[in-house]
Amino acid sequence: MSKSSKQGKEAPAAKKIILSPSLLSADFGRLADELAALEEGGIEWVHWDVMDGVFVPNITFGPPVIKALRNRSKLFFDCHLMVIKPERYINDFLDAGANLICVHAEATSHLERTVSQIREAGVKTAIALNPATSLSSIEYLLPELDMVLIMSVNPGFGGQVFIPFSLEKIRRLRKMIDEQGTKTLIQVDGGITPENIAPVVDAGAEVIVSGSSFFKFPPYGKRRELFETLSQVSFGPTGL
Ligand code: DX5
Ligand code: ZN
Repeated sequence: MSKSSKQGKEAPAAKKIILSPSLLSADFGRLADELAALEEGGIEWVHWDVMDGVFVPNITFGPPVIKALRNRSKLFFDCHLMVIKPERYINDFLDAGANLICVHAEATSHLERTVSQIREAGVKTAIALNPATSLSSIEYLLPELDMVLIMSVNPGFGGQVFIPFSLEKIRRLRKMIDEQGTKTLIQVDGGITPENIAPVVDAGAEVIVSGSSFFKFPPYGKRRELFETLSQVSFGPTGL
C-alpha cells in the first residue's frame, strides 16, 4: 500500500499529454511510410488537416486518402476538418476510419446538431475555434465534447507563428472545463515548437499538435523526446 493510500488519500494521477503530429508537414508522396515512422517513434495520435479551399485557402486531402491509409496504421486518427458545412461529410469520415472528428464552430450554422451527429456515430467529438472566436460559442456544448481545439494560428497553413493571446484563451478554457466538471481535453494547434511547448502545457493544454517543427526534424522518436522533455510533462494515454 502506498503511503498516500495508508493515509486515506490517493495522490492525484500525474498529468499526461498527447503529441499529435500534423501530416500537413509530412511528405505527401510517402504517407504510408510517414505513418509507420511515427509509430516506430512511439507516437500514438496523428493529426489530419482536411482543407476544402473555401473555409481556408488551401486544399489538402479528404476521406478517400484517409481511408486508403487506415489499413496501414494503428495510430489514432485525429481529423481536423477545415471544411464549410462539415455535416455533409461526417459519414464519409466515419467510413474512412476517423477516430475523432473535429469541426469548426465557424463552419456550421447548427453546431449542436453537427456535434450530436458525430457523437451518435460513436467516435470522439471535438470543436475547433479560430483565434478570434470566443469560448462562449462552446460553453453550453462542453458536456457533449471529448475535446476542444484552440487554434493558435489562423487555420490554412503550416509554419505560422503562435499567437500569444492563445495562452490566456487556454487558461480560460481550462477554468471553464474545471468549473463544469467535464472531462473535455484541450488541444492546441499552430506554431508549437519544442521552445514554446512548456507555457502551452502549463496553461492547460493536453493534446499538442505540431506540424513543421516536428516533421522537418527526423528521426521522429528523438523529436518526440525533445517535445516531451521540454514540455516538462510525460507523454502518454490521456484516457480518451
Ligand atoms: C493549420 C493546421 C495545423 C498546422 C500546424 O491550419 O490546422 O494543424 O498543420 O502546423 P504548424 O505546427 O507548422 O503551425
Ligand atoms: Zn490542424
